Amino acid sequence: MQAIGVDIGGTKIAAGVVSEDGEVLAHTRRDTDATQPAAIEQAVVDAVAELRNEHEVGAVGVAAAGFVSPRRDRVLFAPNIAWRDHPLRDRLAADIDLPIVIENDANAAGWAEFRFGCGRDVEHMVMMTVGTGLGGAVIVDGHLLRGAFGAAGEIGHLRVVPDGHYCGCGHEGCWEMYASGRALTRAARASLITDADRTGALVELAGGPGHKVKGPHVTDAAQEGDPLSTELLADLGRWVGEGAASLAAVLDPEMIVIGGGVGSAGPLLLEPARRGFLAQLSARGHRPAARIELAELGNEAGVVGAADLART
Ligand code: BGC
Ligand code: NA
Ligand code: ZN
Repeated sequence: MQAIGVDIGGTKIAAGVVSEDGEVLAHTRRDTDATQPAAIEQAVVDAVAELRNEHEVGAVGVAAAGFVSPRRDRVLFAPNIAWRDHPLRDRLAADIDLPIVIENDANAAGWAEFRFGCGRDVEHMVMMTVGTGLGGAVIVDGHLLRGAFGAAGEIGHLRVVPDGHYCGCGHEGCWEMYASGRALTRAARASLITDADRTGALVELAGGPGHKVKGPHVTDAAQEGDPLSTELLADLGRWVGEGAASLAAVLDPEMIVIGGGVGSAGPLLLEPARRGFLAQLSARGHRPAARIELAELGNEAGVVGAADLART
């Protein structure tokens, strides 16, 4: 059956009708205000209603950027959205008369890559979504690892720097603080001060003073060849790759997939990530190294995976 997938991120909601083959047949978007759960729910309800006008669907999967309960109904906690033990499924079910499941957003994206994207031929895969935060999905023996309490794969909160930057999860030095869109924004703004004479292209793209500079400006500038922005992305890629080597120490995947909004930087992120991975891989040269690849489904992955998981 066809299903609707909805992906709720910190800044936007994407929703689509997805076929059994993982094809997106229709889609729509809404902006979100991460501080307003009720507004988020209203936007999801509207988006689902819009899609159902033209399409027959049997279920709704909702990908949410947070810790999701094992019964797939509540968001226990979200570092970047105002959800605290939030009954998201029941709230939505009040206005949507279809079966609904809630999934972690990175799990949904990873599932989509595993089923229909670049992981379709592997059985052991890790997905990293490098977006506002850093999300993870772990596929072991063809199964999505959920953990005892639903929170497996929260790779963004591995501590990589003792006493490092404060994270929305309540701790310091989480990997997400160094390998995410937010980290890129922070690094770019710091360079406005420390590397002022090299930030002309960035400031121009941002259309004004320093505080307007955001991660996507760095990606755009780097794609136009700006040396400073290229370096910023390479630093980020190194954080991604070196941390991925730690994941390999635990999980020994065949493939590590890099997606999320910052993943759109493509080779500018991928190549430094590959180098960082090999540089830190334990017993390098004496073991096979996982392939590191860019996500194939791009921004649609969360929608596709959430819809597919709603069918299972
Ligand atoms: C959250 C994860 C989420 C990731 C990507 C992290 O901060 O803890 O649940 O998957 O961001 O959105
Ligand atoms: Na996850
Ligand atoms: Zn954290």
